[in-house]
Amino acid sequence: MKNLMVTGGAGFIGANFVLQTLHKYPDYQVIVYDKLTYAGNTDNLLDVANNPHYHFVHGDICDAAAVEKAIVNYGIDTIVNFAAETHVDRSILNPDAFVQTSVYGTYVLLEAAKKHGLRYHQISTDEVYGDIPEGYSSVEDDPLRPRSPYAASKASADLMVQAYHITYGLPITISRGSNNIGPYQYPEKVVPLFTTNAMDGKPLPLYGDGRQKREYQFVGDHCEAIDLVLHKGTIGEVYNIGTGVEFENVEMVEILLDTVGRSHDLIKHVTDRAGHDRRYSLNIGKILRLGWEPEHTPEDAVRKTVRWYMDNEWWWRKVRDQDFDKYYEKQYGERLKS
Ligand code: NAD
Ligand code: TYD
Repeated sequence: MKNLMVTGGAGFIGANFVLQTLHKYPDYQVIVYDKLTYAGNTDNLLDVANNPHYHFVHGDICDAAAVEKAIVNYGIDTIVNFAAETHVDRSILNPDAFVQTSVYGTYVLLEAAKKHGLRYHQISTDEVYGDIPEGYSSVEDDPLRPRSPYAASKASADLMVQAYHITYGLPITISRGSNNIGPYQYPEKVVPLFTTNAMDGKPLPLYGDGRQKREYQFVGDHCEAIDLVLHKGTIGEVYNIGTGVEFENVEMVEILLDTVGRSHDLIKHVTDRAGHDRRYSLNIGKILRLGWEPEHTPEDAVRKTVRWYMDNEWWWRKVRDQDFDKYYEKQYGERLKS
C-alpha cells in the first residue's frame, strides 16, 4: 500500500485523515479525489498544499471515466472512500444527491477497484443500525435498519461493498464511526453550528427535548482507527469505531456554552427533526481488540473542538457564506420564529 486515493478527502474527516496519513507515512502518495461540493474545501488541506506527496484531482465519484483516469495516472493501489452527502437534515429536504453519490458513486468506485485489483475501504456510520433501544449496543453483524435518507444511502453503500467482497473477492473493509467532531467540520453539523452561533450571540436551535444520545468522538481518534483497519483489519470485515460513552445533546451543549463563555439562555428548543433517531450506541469491542483506543474523552473532544473554532474564525467565517445563510433560513427560519 503506497498510492492511496482518498475520495472525499477535501471534506471534514477525509482532510483530517489525509493530514494524518501524510505525516505518518512519508513514503506514501496521497491523491485526494473530490467533487468540491458545498462541504468540500481545499482550505482544509492548506497544511499539505506544498507537500510533493499530496496531489489533488477535482472529480465526481459518479464519473467512471474520470475515476479510471485518476487511478491509471497515479498508479493507485488503494481507495479509501469518504465521499458522500453527509447531513441528515439536508437528506430530509432533498435526498437526490445522497442516492447519486453514496449508492451510484460507491458502485463506480467498486467497479474500478475490481478492474484494477485495488484494496478498498469504505467509511460508514453508526446511523446504518437505526434507532437503538436503551440497554443495547450495536455489533457489526446486526441487521441494518436505517431511518433517514442519509442513513439509507450509507447502508445501501455498505451492502454493495459487502456484495463485491462476497461475489468477486474484492479485498474490502468497512468502518462504522459515531459522530465526529474537531477541526474543519462544516458548520451545518451541531457542534460547529452551535459554537459559531454562540460566538456571535445567536440562539442554538436544539431539536425537541434535546435528550437524544450520540457518541461524540474526536476526529483524530477516528482517523487513527481507520488507519489501523486499513493496515491491520481482516479483509471482508466491518469495524465499529466509537467511544463507548453516550452524551445527551443537552449535556454536550452545556459544555460547549461554558467553553465559549456564553449563557445557557442561548439554548432554544425548536421543532424536532422528522424521524429523529433518539439514540445510537456502538459496541466497540472488535476495534479495541485490534489494538486501538480513543485518546480523548467526549468532554475533551467537545472542548478542544470549540477552542479550535474560537481560534480559527478565518476558516469558518469564509464558509458561513450566502449559500449557508440560504440553507440556514430554510432549515431554521420558521423554527426560530415560534
Ligand atoms: P463532509 O460532508 O465534510 O465531506 C464530504 C466530502 O465528500 C466533501 O469534500 C465533498 O466535496 C465530497 N463529495 C461529495 N460528493 C462527492 C462526489 N460525488 N464525488 C466526489 N467527492 C464528493 O463529510 P464528513 O463529515 O467528512 O464525512 C466523511 C465520511 O464519513 C462520509 O462518508 C460520512 O458518511 C462518514 N461519517 C461521518 C461522520 C460524521 O460525524 N461527520 C460519522 C461517521 C461516518
Ligand atoms: P448532527 O450533527 O446533524 O449529526 P447526526 O444527525 O448525524 O447525529 O446532529 C447531532 C445531534 O444534534 C442530533 O441528535 C440532532 C441534534 N441537532 C440539534 O438539536 N439541532 C441542530 O440544529 C442540529 C444540526 C442537530
